[in-house]
Amino acid sequence: MRKILISGASRGIGKAVALKLSEEGHSLSLGVRETRDLINTPLDPNSKNPDSFLVHSYDATDQKSSKAWVEKTVETFNNIDTIIHCAGIFKRTNLLFNDNEIKDIEDLWKVNVLGPWILTKEAWKYLSISNSARIIVLVSMSGKRSKGNFAGYSMSKFALMSLCQTMRNEGWEKGIRVTAICPGWVNTDMAKEINHFPKKDMIQANDIANICSNLLDLPNSSIPFEISLNCQLETSI
Ligand SMILES: NC(=O)c1ccc[n+]([C@@H]2O[C@H](COP(=O)([O-])OP(=O)(O)OC[C@H]3O[C@@H](n4cnc5c(N)ncnc54)[C@H](OP(=O)(O)O)[C@@H]3O)[C@@H](O)[C@H]2O)c1
Repeated sequence: MRKILISGASRGIGKAVALKLSEEGHSLSLGVRETRDLINTPLDPNSKNPDSFLVHSYDATDQKSSKAWVEKTVETFNNIDTIIHCAGIFKRTNLLFNDNEIKDIEDLWKVNVLGPWILTKEAWKYLSISNSARIIVLVSMSGKRSKGNFAGYSMSKFALMSLCQTMRNEGWEKGIRVTAICPGWVNTDMAKEINHFPKKDMIQANDIANICSNLLDLPNSSIPFEISLNCQLETSI
């Protein structure tokens, strides 16, 4: 059983992953902006064994919260051998953005890139001692090709993909294996305003949870670096 940090576990993909891995008996440390959001949900910390289930405040824009979350997790579980980065934001910032949208671009950079970078950095020394650590990152098809008018989001996800490659390279000899999951539209709050494509035909969060679960069963020699999930035809990559 693994000792896993999951960011963005309050909703969407992160929550589905947390529910699945909790059922499987892993030790989970969930990072959320509002810990009270999980009270009276299936991820309520009061309903779980505190030795193997932790909910901690985590804001991707606050470097100190990464450090505090990692330290509290190591204090509780003795180590961390897996991170699943699900926290992320989406903004419709296009190439010719309005002056008042510059903050959106800064936020995309902070949450989607610096957030996972800093969290990984804080946990690196613990991941390094396990010999079979895993880092799973929710990137996007937008980290592989630019499409539509989402310049800011795509920029952040291309940068995140670059970060994944660096984590893979620097972690390889230590047994750290990285997987960048690159879905098209997933049926969560993030895609709720997408109306040109039926929600039932989108990727479902539970399917990504199953993929994460399968990845954790694989040995160091068989970890895919990248998994592209197509719910629509993609011809440009
Ligand atoms: N949905 C899609 O179509 C899609 C497609 C490809 C890739 N992805 C990627 O998959 C990941 C998860 O997306 P999702 O669909 O699950 O989105 P979601 O339903 O909107 O959930 C986003 C999660 O990120 C958390 N979050 C946002 N800002 C944060 C911050 N500053 N600090 C800490 N946590 C923060 C949210 O917490 P709060 O509850 O506190 O807001 C929430 O738990 C994202 O990286 C996204 O870019 C999504």
